[in-house]
Amino acid sequence: MTENNRKVAVVSGGSRGLGFSICEALIDAGYRVATFSRKCSPELEAAIAASDGALMWEALDITDESALAAFLRRVRERYGRIGALVNCAGMANEGLLTMMKAKDISRMIQVNLEGTILLSQGCAKQMMVGGGGSIVNISSVVGVRGFKGVAAYSATKAAMDGFTRSLAKELGSMSIRVNSVAPGFMETEMTAELTEQQKARIVRQTPLSRLGRVDDVSSVVKFLLSDESAFVTGQTLVVDGGLTV
Ligand SMILES: NC(=O)c1ccc[n+]([C@@H]2O[C@H](COP(=O)([O-])OP(=O)(O)OC[C@H]3O[C@@H](n4cnc5c(N)ncnc54)[C@H](OP(=O)(O)O)[C@@H]3O)[C@@H](O)[C@H]2O)c1
Repeated sequence: MTENNRKVAVVSGGSRGLGFSICEALIDAGYRVATFSRKCSPELEAAIAASDGALMWEALDITDESALAAFLRRVRERYGRIGALVNCAGMANEGLLTMMKAKDISRMIQVNLEGTILLSQGCAKQMMVGGGGSIVNISSVVGVRGFKGVAAYSATKAAMDGFTRSLAKELGSMSIRVNSVAPGFMETEMTAELTEQQKARIVRQTPLSRLGRVDDVSSVVKFLLSDESAFVTGQTLVVDGGLTV
């Protein structure tokens, strides 16, 4: 694969939180980055304006399969074949399983899991033609260890790690690496509903004595996309300050 292809990245869910931090880290590292979400954000608009054409965004719901395929075609036309993918878009419907509505569970499975699988399929096709690539799936510590109140969300995240391992076997001979990054609790919109008491408890249980920051995770994602990790595939790298040790 050419240096040019390797530096074309797709990041799902880049409008805020971790996805936005990953877009920024990749732009800094010289990638051209295409991202999408349902809505844009002021910080992403500013980053696009400052990127000299290296960052693009489109409004897209990851569950819309044909819109996703059309987006990937437009990325190829504008930047060339995709060589890097970060599956970051996700949602968390929290609550005790017995209290959850079936439609909320299905929607979360569609967004977190089916969205990841379909986007990976579309990008992997371009990577195969381009001669290689790297995929990073953002799973979670809740897919590695049990936490009360997130059973259905945990199921989607553990499934993403299983997907990572099998896809790594499927694509390895084509020089495409597939890894997961499993963050601990980070302060983003997704965790905004945690009470101060809940946050303090997580900090107490974390050997590094703080919550995660999005850049703790985006730097690891950048490493897994780069040749610095050329012999790493099929792994889940937990980035949680030691919470699950
Ligand atoms: N925050 C944490 O503590 C934590 C811990 C472990 C793992 N994670 C994982 O890290 C990833 C990012 O989390 P975050 O905290 O940054 O979340 P966030 O702040 O809620 O951001 C989620 C992103 O995904 C996009 N998104 C959500 N639903 C979408 C859909 N149907 N189609 C397209 N885009 C969609 C959102 O944009 P729109 O809403 O505009 O579509 C947004 O850009 C998620 O996969 C999450 O499960 C987070």
